[in-house]
Amino acid sequence: MIPAKPPARPDKVSLFRYLKLFRADILSAQPAKLYRAWMAEFRTPFFRSYMVNDPELIRLVLNERPDNFPKSDRIGAGLRPLLGDSVFLTNGDLWKQQRRIIDPAFAGGRLRDTFPAIKAAGAAAVTRMAPLADGTPRDIEPETSHAAADVIFRTLFSVPIEDQIATRVFDAFKTYQRTQPILNLAAFIPGPRWMPRFFRRDTRATARLIRSLITDMTAARLAQIADGTAPDDLATKIMTTADPDTGDTFDVPQMVDQVAIFFLAGHETSAAALAWTLYLLAMHPEWQDKLAEEAQAWDGQFAGLSTLKATRDVFRESLRLYPPVPMMVRETTKPEVFRKRDVTPGAQVVLSPWHLHRHERIWDKPDDFDPARWQTENGKTGQRTAYMPFSAGPRVCTGAGFAMIEGVVLLAQMLAAYRFELVPDRPPVPVAHLTVRTANGMWLRISPR
Ligand code: HEM
Repeated sequence: MIPAKPPARPDKVSLFRYLKLFRADILSAQPAKLYRAWMAEFRTPFFRSYMVNDPELIRLVLNERPDNFPKSDRIGAGLRPLLGDSVFLTNGDLWKQQRRIIDPAFAGGRLRDTFPAIKAAGAAAVTRMAPLADGTPRDIEPETSHAAADVIFRTLFSVPIEDQIATRVFDAFKTYQRTQPILNLAAFIPGPRWMPRFFRRDTRATARLIRSLITDMTAARLAQIADGTAPDDLATKIMTTADPDTGDTFDVPQMVDQVAIFFLAGHETSAAALAWTLYLLAMHPEWQDKLAEEAQAWDGQFAGLSTLKATRDVFRESLRLYPPVPMMVRETTKPEVFRKRDVTPGAQVVLSPWHLHRHERIWDKPDDFDPARWQTENGKTGQRTAYMPFSAGPRVCTGAGFAMIEGVVLLAQMLAAYRFELVPDRPPVPVAHLTVRTANGMWLRISPR
């Protein structure tokens, strides 16, 4: 059985139809030929857009000359009320400075320090997910969202999600996502750059509320740092790290921008990855049993994480089939030649982990769930050239190492405790706005192991 895959649209549709499809779901709005193409051009009256699946071109954009392909500000427009000048949206020198201050907090050594907080969040999630007495299936997406939000608050600010402010932030984010689907369509909507971007009034109000709550937390932390009582967590680390080049540290407004993106980028994505992994395991009980055995044998220590090998392979396979960030957009700033085609400055470059990870000319049985592929020649080549759930190059996800630990730890804790089964009449339907989620929830039956 092949894991859920959105239907493709017919090869040719009108621009109007495309936009309508796109608004509903960016995955099923694409034609099937993109799973075989190395590049596809999309013409609009105001700009050209190129989806690039050729590994060499992707390397050029992300690794070799990333400064020539900044993030498109068409994407940023929809997120700015919430994220301000956060590292996810900035470009150039400002972005470089932000990474110099943030990256040390996520370096290898620091991950060991965040492990106890991740594990505590996982244990709390296991308690919340306790099977219902009558075996009724549950939608596990709210559970994985709750768990991933808890991980972020515990690692960043040393508070569990039950903390009053943390709960309010989490609830406000849910409202924000309802009022403003996070991927705004601006990069694909063929309007001129000056076209005004409208936000609903409640979207702006929610963004203001989230920012004011985060501002309170950040200001309180700054005071604790000043009087020497701050806990040693990611927030303290980031707020006390000076840019090695200029000596600057983040002030409160700058830190608020970063906290907003850590919360958003860090919890939506991990929540999606966990939910899809549990689904894939429910579909493949033999792998689920194997992982449960591995999890029960794990000593629960950071150093022992290396024993969770099959768990890591499964999580990696899940990130291949359901990359939480399905597409990324960059912009050309110079004349370029892509696969012998002239590309003018201002063109949109769409990089699609979704299509690359299922590319029919790269992967053996691309739509199959096969965690053993990572030990094969084809899987290893694919991993090197056509696998980028966390993007690549200098702009790679700051939280990639963190997310791999979080995913493996939470899975091990959940699988050691419970068995997850599919609910045949409620298969998940993947849809994507910013992250790949389900249209109607991820329904699974949970029972004690
Ligand atoms: C499975 C989980 C995750 C996935 C699949 C993921 C994926 C990604 C991807 C693909 C990007 C690049 C987006 C682009 O260039 O347009 C990104 C950027 C980013 N991610 Fe993650 N992410 C995950 C978890 C996290 C976590 C846990 C954090 C922080 C705690 C985080 C923080 C960030 C930040 C700050 C950026 C912006 C980096 C920059 O632009 O320089 N992510 N992530």
